[in-house]
Amino acid sequence: MIEGRQRGRFITFEGPDGSGKSTQAERLAATLRADGLDVVLTREPGGTPLGERVRAVLLDRDAAGRHSARADALLFSAARAQHVDDVIEPALARGAVVVCDRYADSTAAYQGYGSGLPLDQLRALEAFATRGVRPDLVILLDLSVEAGMARRMAGEPGSVNRFESPDAFDTAYHERVRAGFLELAGAEPARWRVVDADRPADEIAHDVVVAVRAFLEPGREGR
Ligand code: TMP
Repeated sequence: MIEGRQRGRFITFEGPDGSGKSTQAERLAATLRADGLDVVLTREPGGTPLGERVRAVLLDRDAAGRHSARADALLFSAARAQHVDDVIEPALARGAVVVCDRYADSTAAYQGYGSGLPLDQLRALEAFATRGVRPDLVILLDLSVEAGMARRMAGEPGSVNRFESPDAFDTAYHERVRAGFLELAGAEPARWRVVDADRPADEIAHDVVVAVRAFLEPGREGR
């Protein structure tokens, strides 16, 4: 068990739209709480009152095509800066496990690989926004673009966000995003775990918990 005064652990979920991140983040948080850990479950964009307002601006379908990628990157980063200061860093400082649904690697994947902004500039922006707070473990829920979009379109009517709207971001864009995530994971295998998300939720949740427990408490693998 992690003691109160030890620094906590920061775990993020990443992946294409429709990969089931939110469900899996919730399930992981519940499992870790049942293990007796202090867990903070949060999401991006969002996690603070400012972040939720920025989220509404960013994901508004009526804005399709009207935001530049640079404006998007800055807005996601503004929300992230507040999130780090108000939620993530205080939780890590008290020793909690922070489970976050998306974080800075989404900016690299979407605004970088997807929209073509230079990755080195986005990494500089990330360092400024986060003050260097990086995830200790990134779970990439990998899924084909077709399967992801099919899942999202089958969801609640009107729940499709701006990035999922085919008029604004086409299949080729989402293919670049997926390839970008896989490249990021391949570049840092010690920090990333790739989980096949084209399976029933229970199977995915099992693999996620095994990977996270192995990370939090090496030696407890396979439970
Ligand atoms: P979601 O978290 O509900 O999937 O929606 C967030 C959307 O915003 C998703 O389509 C990915 C996109 N996004 C970015 O483009 N850049 C970012 O930095 C983040 C956090 C999300």
